[in-house]
Amino acid sequence: MASFRFAGARSRVSTGIPGLDALIEGGLLPGRIYVVSGPPGSGKTTFGVQFLAAGAWHGERGMYVSLLEDVENIIYDMTTFSFKVEELISSGKLLFLDIGEMLEASAEFPTYKQLLNKISDQVKFRRVRRLVIDSISAIKFMGSDPKFEKNQMGEFFRGLQKIGCTTLLLSEMTDPERYLPEHFLAHGVVFLHNFLSDSRMLRAIQIIKMRGTRHDCNLRRLEITKKGLRVTNLLKSI
Ligand SMILES: Nc1ncnc2c1ncn2[C@@H]1O[C@H](COP(=O)(O)OP(=O)(O)OP(=O)(O)O)[C@@H](O)[C@H]1O
Ligand SMILES: [Mg+2]
Repeated sequence: MASFRFAGARSRVSTGIPGLDALIEGGLLPGRIYVVSGPPGSGKTTFGVQFLAAGAWHGERGMYVSLLEDVENIIYDMTTFSFKVEELISSGKLLFLDIGEMLEASAEFPTYKQLLNKISDQVKFRRVRRLVIDSISAIKFMGSDPKFEKNQMGEFFRGLQKIGCTTLLLSEMTDPERYLPEHFLAHGVVFLHNFLSDSRMLRAIQIIKMRGTRHDCNLRRLEITKKGLRVTNLLKSI
């Protein structure tokens, strides 16, 4: 029998991204699973690390799980921002888990169940509260039938929910008009856009869905500076 948590005045988890919390009733709901989708270079990794760093500075330990990219490279890239990633890593408030190392040990890409076990062990052992997985696109959900694949992804989401962290799943997206299975399964979805307009590259952010939340739906300008991501005005009013 399921037990229910009734929606009262719910505390929110800050994303750590200036301008974003105000668009989603103050932040994310703790313990839920969110998807951040975007094309290459749109800011997904920066979004994830900024979210973890913000939590880490406020006592919530964060873990970034990298499936494909070497974590050394990610850490190196993130030191260009003022998140003080190295300091957070040294003090144990920010952890990076390299799934590539698991791969070297077994010579086969881990299944989503093995991945869940590995993440769950680390979360319990290190008392992690915020989780980022880079990326859900890299996880192999077996099956030639797309329905079967979605069922497996559904199990993965349920497993993650049991782990209990506030979780961001980064996802690769090349066509913002083509929704992916993870968009239906997640509690909330944020798109990062990176497109050419009159030979100028524009960055934008859009909240596609946020269950249980009144939220802004518009395309808003996204800036990336030394301080990380920042959401500003409506895109059309530039
Ligand atoms: N210090 C900085 N100041 C301003 N912009 C920066 C800085 N460092 C990186 N960027 C910009 O941020 C972009 C990278 O963002 P990020 O790595 O978070 O994207 P991503 O969506 O994770 O990319 P990928 O799909 O390749 O993993 C870079 O391509 C660059 O344009
Ligand atoms: Mg990335």
